[in-house]
Amino acid sequence: MANADSRVTIHMAASLDGFIARKDGSVDWLETSDEFLDGETMDPAFVETFLKTIDCYVMGSRTYETALRFEAQGLGWAYGDKPTFVLTSRQLPRIRDTVEFYSGDLAQFVNERLRPTFRNIWFVGGPEVSAECLRLGLADEVRYSILPILIGDGIRFFEKLDKDIALHLAEVKAYKSGMVELRYECKG
Ligand SMILES: NC(=O)c1ccc[n+]([C@@H]2O[C@H](COP(=O)([O-])OP(=O)(O)OC[C@H]3O[C@@H](n4cnc5c(N)ncnc54)[C@H](OP(=O)(O)O)[C@@H]3O)[C@@H](O)[C@H]2O)c1
Repeated sequence: MANADSRVTIHMAASLDGFIARKDGSVDWLETSDEFLDGETMDPAFVETFLKTIDCYVMGSRTYETALRFEAQGLGWAYGDKPTFVLTSRQLPRIRDTVEFYSGDLAQFVNERLRPTFRNIWFVGGPEVSAECLRLGLADEVRYSILPILIGDGIRFFEKLDKDIALHLAEVKAYKSGMVELRYECKG
């Protein structure tokens, strides 16, 4: 039974030309920053408080493999102590107690397993999983962080999205770093 208060957010950061990773999967360009004088400052205390409102993360196996590489390079684990669900049909290393694997029907998983338990559910990629989430009508909102860089080629934000998804622009924020954050609500 779905919890009426639960909310599914898709969040990704992309280059201005709409890529979320280079062709080889690397995301080194995410470090880019500019100086936009009229922008807001990203206050670390606000970020910390905001992250506390997220109740669980969901990601595809390739995104998890990227997170594993980051961790191996000493760059840390971005998902704190929040339950993190990894979609995979493979046997992958479980590096934390908070990591849980799932394989199967995504709609059933979100509606019957996640929504009754978690209020603020964040899909953090990759494009294959995000597109599936939208295609199945599971997402309530899309948060799109655009970085001030063009990378020319790479993996697109949503892979194989085979229908139009109407969106309502709900929030726009521009930061001093040159990043623009857009929040769209999914209509219907
Ligand atoms: N810029 C950003 O914000 C951002 C965010 C996230 C990711 N990324 C980048 O995106 C790239 C990965 O994206 P991607 O689209 O290639 O892959 P992905 O969405 O991370 O993972 C897709 C994989 O998840 C597994 N999967 C998906 N749905 C499933 C289901 N219902 N049941 C079981 N398994 C399921 C399948 O793999 P198996 O079954 O074979 O395991 C599938 O191939 C990486 O380069 C990453 O760095 C960037």
